[in-house]
Amino acid sequence: MKTRVLKINDVESDCSAILEAARLIQAGEVVAFPTETVYGLGANALDAAAVQKIFEAKGRPSDNPLIVHISKRQDVDRLIKELPSSAITLMERFWPGPLTMIFKKSPLIPDAVTAGLDTVAIRMPRHPVALRLIECSGVPIAAPSANRSGHTSPTMAQHVLDDLDGRIPLILDGGRCDVGLESTVLDMTAEVPTILRPGGITYEMLMQVLGEVRVDDGALKPVKTQRVKSPGMKYTHYAPHAQVVVVRGEPHQMVARINVMAEEYAKQGMKVGILATQETKDYYKEGQVLVLGSRKQPATMASNLFWALRRFDDLGVDIVLAEWIETKDEGLAIMNRMLRAAAFRVIEA
Ligand code: TXA
Ligand code: MG
Repeated sequence: MKTRVLKINDVESDCSAILEAARLIQAGEVVAFPTETVYGLGANALDAAAVQKIFEAKGRPSDNPLIVHISKRQDVDRLIKELPSSAITLMERFWPGPLTMIFKKSPLIPDAVTAGLDTVAIRMPRHPVALRLIECSGVPIAAPSANRSGHTSPTMAQHVLDDLDGRIPLILDGGRCDVGLESTVLDMTAEVPTILRPGGITYEMLMQVLGEVRVDDGALKPVKTQRVKSPGMKYTHYAPHAQVVVVRGEPHQMVARINVMAEEYAKQGMKVGILATQETKDYYKEGQVLVLGSRKQPATMASNLFWALRRFDDLGVDIVLAEWIETKDEGLAIMNRMLRAAAFRVIEA
């Protein structure tokens, strides 16, 4: 199959490309499209056969459920059984945006979408191309991140092409995703709303609205397969080709330790990458240094993480030494992804 890429500069003037994508969705095909978080690989969420094609294109395990994307608040009503009042408050505050909520599902949602669970994950993205595509398709769109299963999520159309060229008919290119990490997944069926996957809507932001929020144990730890609430958390994730090692400590200790390690690896003939911050970047002597951003701006660091991991691959790096980032605000989502990319290899500086 030939994969076409259509550039969207403006949803009004490029509406013919979005209409073409919508027709593919209606015909039971898959299409990659930009959201504010990462690129998604979408299909008609009400068509089990179409949804099946997502799993095939990604090589995704069939027990990992998908998020259903909608464009209007009312779209949610027929997809779920009951809507808690706290969810309405969250929708008013954070939709459209990077917040996914889990509800008891209605019979309309095929089992292929939810991997047989009796709950469904729903979100309203805020990217204009995503919203227009859902509207024009006239159906809710099931979409995981548009990467090969296990690989880093795509934040640019080129990343999607690198992973899925020849496996899907169309990519809508809406430029770089600004949040850069996947949405926050919040379980609204738990006694206390529980963050299963941290993301752009932070624990602190949810606490301000709800007053009580839990963070699942799996956020910064490997999850035990038996009792995993969000099946996606148990798989290897975000893995670049290089091995990733996280170094934790005070900034000057991390720098010192990373410099020693970088020299050792370089001596062994390995190409070393260093994932640094604005505050530390000038202190590294060896290796290919990429800067996430300033430690004072965790949202910026979050938006650059996946880009940097893929960039290290392009540079042919063998090992990435990454600085630990404080886990407050977007830092929690950053470390959730970074620790998985590192398969939880952490060294104390
Ligand atoms: O930002 C995002 O959420 C992106 C864009 C495309 O919207 N999508 C995304 O989808 O990240 P995906 O499939 O890569 O991640 C969905 C996560 C997985 O960890 C999955 O296990 C979890 O949401 N999930 C989906 N439905 C669930 C459910 N009913 N119960 C618990 N977890 C669920
Ligand atoms: Mg994913």
